[in-house]
Amino acid sequence: MTDKKTGIAIFGFGTVGSGAARILLEQAEALKKRTGVEVALKKICDRDVTSDRGFVVPEGILTTDINEVFSASDIHVFVELIGGIEPAKTFILKAIEHGKHIVTANKALLALHGREIMDAAAKKGVSVGFEASVGGGVPVIKAVREGLRANEFQSVMGIMNGTANYILSRMSDEGLAFEEVLKEAQRLGFAEADPTYDVEGIDTAHKLAILARLAFEMQVELSDIHVEGISSIKPLDIEFARELGYEIKLLAIAQKAGGELELRVHPTMIPVGHLLAQVKGAYNAFYLTGDSVGKVMLYGLGAGQMPTGSAVVADICDIAMASDAGNAPSGMSGLLPLRKRPIETLSSRYYFRFSAKDQPGVLAGIAGVLGQHNISIESCVQKARGQKDDVPIVMLTHEAMERDVQNALAQLDQLDIVTARTTVIRIEEGKKI
Ligand code: HSE
Repeated sequence: MTDKKTGIAIFGFGTVGSGAARILLEQAEALKKRTGVEVALKKICDRDVTSDRGFVVPEGILTTDINEVFSASDIHVFVELIGGIEPAKTFILKAIEHGKHIVTANKALLALHGREIMDAAAKKGVSVGFEASVGGGVPVIKAVREGLRANEFQSVMGIMNGTANYILSRMSDEGLAFEEVLKEAQRLGFAEADPTYDVEGIDTAHKLAILARLAFEMQVELSDIHVEGISSIKPLDIEFARELGYEIKLLAIAQKAGGELELRVHPTMIPVGHLLAQVKGAYNAFYLTGDSVGKVMLYGLGAGQMPTGSAVVADICDIAMASDAGNAPSGMSGLLPLRKRPIETLSSRYYFRFSAKDQPGVLAGIAGVLGQHNISIESCVQKARGQKDDVPIVMLTHEAMERDVQNALAQLDQLDIVTARTTVIRIEEGKKI
């Protein structure tokens, strides 16, 4: 790009699209000064080009016709911000075919079809920037790829979904029920109308797949990740956890274990003094362990118009600068096949909350089944009395094998002394994390 002008088209003028457009328009001079190249917003494509987004878009930029973008020779970077799989995937592949670099915030698309998109981009010699797909405004992709590139990672953990963390934080701080906080978050327009991806851990798993591929250079698929959400967590669990010295967080964990990689997303009890336990509200945090650097934590807003817009614009600038130097950065290539550690072989301490009848022999019955499966109890608490058919019994275990835990619970949940499905939360210890 000899005239040092990089033309940008944004596809999707929603929350993130407006944030990115606003930065590109309002900070054009500052960006030029910082990067030494000129980044020019040429087109914004959306079905709705008339609603007020709160800032002025110069004439000629807004369009409803995406084909204008593909054929324009002065557009070098195609920024996909509509989310979802289709038509985002088709348009990204078409833009690559036309020789455009790609910037996207689309974690679901990259988690599910990342390989196809990266292969197409590599073939065409264009780059794919995806900083905004994980952690919103937190530059975790750049940290893993660049700042920490000297390291072999031992683990990548994090709170990667603001909605789930907001819900757990409110439950924890105010003793509210999951359903109540979720409804409130939806009323405030904070949680999606369909919150499944956020509360069931799927959005977190999308982000973990992307991050784990980069950190461990292995081909991680979404189906390789064990996923559990937070919808079965009760205020009672949070209260018990607190008394035992833990907070409950929806954690994403990718961890090396004997040459294999453990990949899991689930509610996790972490010691209250741990940095990740202090992450409250809609914030995200990434806790990385590398062989040279040791532990690094990144913290910030994982969603929202301007934080995510900030990540999108950073990718645009990187592409503009690298293209100017004749050196467009690659996406993600040369990944090795995954050596996955199955969840059944996980060794962890566990929290169990049984709902059981309050009668003689119940504790002995539960403990007996756990014992048969090699699960050793560290402590046990039974508090409430009165409701004879449904009292909570909480047990913490010593290190146990996931396979044994699942087998024991399958047997226990059949017993007539156990009156509801048992809640299980894995415990991460301070020494491990
Ligand atoms: N829905 C996500 C969250 C933000 O709540 O964190 C976008 O990744």
